Amino acid sequence: MATISSTFYTIILWLYPITLLCSTVVEDLKNLHPPPDFNTTIMNNCQNNPSLRYCNSYPYMNIDEIFKYSIVASHLCNESKNPNCVESFDKVDIRNRPNIASLYLSFDFFWKYCPLSIVSIDISNNYVKGSFPNDVLHCTQIKGLDLSMNEFFGEIPIQSFSLLTNLTFLNLSYNCFSESEELSDSEFFKRFSPSSFIDSGAIFDHKKFTLKVIFYQESSKKVGSLHQQC
Ligand SMILES: *[C@@H]1O[C@H](CO)[C@@H](O)[C@H](O)[C@H]1NC(C)=O
Ligand SMILES: *[C@@H]1O[C@H](CO)[C@@H](O)[C@H](O)[C@H]1NC(C)=O
Ligand SMILES: *[C@@H]1O[C@H](CO)[C@@H](O)[C@H](O)[C@H]1NC(C)=O
Ligand SMILES: *[C@@H]1O[C@H](CO)[C@@H](O)[C@H](O)[C@H]1NC(C)=O
Repeated sequence: MATISSTFYTIILWLYPITLLCSTVVEDLKNLHPPPDFNTTIMNNCQNNPSLRYCNSYPYMNIDEIFKYSIVASHLCNESKNPNCVESFDKVDIRNRPNIASLYLSFDFFWKYCPLSIVSIDISNNYVKGSFPNDVLHCTQIKGLDLSMNEFFGEIPIQSFSLLTNLTFLNLSYNCFSESEELSDSEFFKRFSPSSFIDSGAIFDHKKFTLKVIFYQESSKKVGSLHQQC
């Protein structure tokens, strides 16, 4: 079996040359269509690297969807300021980008095929309102996930996190999640630092509640009036 070096994980293996077009992701999704040989391209990609997520859908591949995925991947890689999107797409970094964060979160076909090269995802400080962005958890290989300073509400899908075995950094602070007794008692809570849950809304336990208040007071100085109330 061939070994694939993690530093040269071929990521998307087909990137639309967006830098030449200078258009928005929405325009590209609307106007671009798969080239006639796109079928062959993705077949070859899967032969070379069967671990690509879209290869799992063989032989019922949705060519249009995979094409749209590659468009979004090109744009998001560029927006995240990765130095070389042809060779590696290491991080999704749309911290402080409230104008685009919700848009990219809405591309479920992108997250479904999440490139295996991505090791960290930072969507913090965008005031995104909505339930927990479950699609992001398709990227099971990630080591870091920052969703802090948004307005996510409802349950945190604790069970799904057990699949993210490489995740060592998590930040869900400053959100509007529902209080959960299960969370406070779970291995999940112990796995991460208490500062992963500052004013996240989710902590129930009274002992931890004290902790939460202390952290809140400390951190609210830094965050100040920027963070809105839930
Ligand atoms: C790619 O990123 C650069 C800056 O990081 C930006 O100027 C350029 O417009 C982006 N291109 C596209 C097509 O988004
Ligand atoms: C791609 O190939 C599959 C099977 O080989 C075929 O069913 C499908 O129609 C092809 N799609 C395009 C867009 O050529
Ligand atoms: C965690 O990282 C290892 C080493 O890079 C990798 O083999 C494994 O598949 C990763 N786990 C997940 C869930 O992707
Ligand atoms: C999470 O983000 C908040 C707000 O920026 C910060 O105060 C806290 O230290 C972070 N937690 C971790 C584990 O980095």
